[in-house]
Amino acid sequence: MKISVKSKNDIDKMRVAGKLAAEVLEMISPHVVPGISTGELDEICFNHIVNVQKAIPANVGYNGYEKTICASLNQVICHGIPSNEKVLKSGDILNIDVTVVKDGWHGDTSKMFLVGKCAPHNERLVKVTQECLYKGIEVVKPGAFLGDIGNAIQTHAEKNHYSVVEDYCGHGIGTVYHEEPQVLHYGKAGTGIKLKEGMCFTIEPMINQGRKFSKVLKDGWTVETKDGRNSAQWEHTISVTKDGYEILTKRSDEYV
Ligand code: MF3
Ligand code: CO
Ligand code: CO
Repeated sequence: MKISVKSKNDIDKMRVAGKLAAEVLEMISPHVVPGISTGELDEICFNHIVNVQKAIPANVGYNGYEKTICASLNQVICHGIPSNEKVLKSGDILNIDVTVVKDGWHGDTSKMFLVGKCAPHNERLVKVTQECLYKGIEVVKPGAFLGDIGNAIQTHAEKNHYSVVEDYCGHGIGTVYHEEPQVLHYGKAGTGIKLKEGMCFTIEPMINQGRKFSKVLKDGWTVETKDGRNSAQWEHTISVTKDGYEILTKRSDEYV
């Protein structure tokens, strides 16, 4: 399969979907406090997408997944399943990942939340992982290579003595949720395909405090670190523009 290049009109629609996905994270932020369950957070997001945004939560029914968000706590790397039994407590770090479909187009984004008062080592993991995302985004422009993104992320993570998860990656996105190319969060500059104006993909680095290895739990979804240490992730959907990039899922709390 070839990598699809979106027209200006397509990107206008991606921008709408991206904005809605970003708005879900903005909307849910004040609810992320000690005492709430990830199941309740999921229900709030579902209702907002369906009733307020009149859009579709892409995760529902995706390969048999039943929830609207992925809610990944502490040592969970990604794909944590929301549950009323998982109640947030002060000191937790939580990733909420949501994808909205509007008019047939997808917007996929995630952010980390520091619940209550967190340990400095967790605050640092969350901050450095966000920097990894931005460093990956900043190298995007026509003529740059996919490997430049992975290299920028890996360099920053390892400089901070963290490891990059290799088992999951970013992806092309459009009318299809996950399409080509695979966007690796590690690698060599100058390798891989050359970026072209109109390509749309996610960058979603998963960064571990300990080693890079992951395991999938018996529920078939939840991905945890093998060594039990914490992991963080941030995700944006971006498009390649004439001279750089546009972050289609940018929130108002971001300075980039
Ligand atoms: N949103 C995730 C991604 O970034 C995929 C979640 S699939 C689900 O690609 F089924 F677990 F929701
Ligand atoms: Co994604
Ligand atoms: Co996602």
